[in-house]
Amino acid sequence: MRLLRVDHIAIVVPDIEEGLGFWQTALGLSVDHREELPEQETIVAMLPVGATELELVQPTADTSGMARFLARRGPGLHHICFKVENIETTLAELKARGIRLIHDEPIAGAGGRKVIFVHPKSACGVLVELVE
Ligand code: CO
Repeated sequence: MRLLRVDHIAIVVPDIEEGLGFWQTALGLSVDHREELPEQETIVAMLPVGATELELVQPTADTSGMARFLARRGPGLHHICFKVENIETTLAELKARGIRLIHDEPIAGAGGRKVIFVHPKSACGVLVELVE
């Protein structure tokens, strides 16, 4: 497995419009695109910062993992995503090493790309996303 770069850093907010107030107005970032991720019950806004992006995430259902995170811990840093060469071989390697994952198989992330999430219990308390 080889991590190629930080793909994006995700921040969970109760309201994307409100969240954008700070990132656009105070720090001068621009929204590249917005997207709904039905599988993850969220909407996201992507703001490029060089080769990386800031991902503002808002839950769309009270039952989603994202909504539970927000209710428990409030808005803030949610996950860090690294780009990998091949998601299937990465998944197999992680499973072989006994690393705890959120899902057994890749799910659809932003842009329809296949992603997997490493459980924070296996990653120093940080939710880690890996994308192909
Ligand atoms: Co993400």
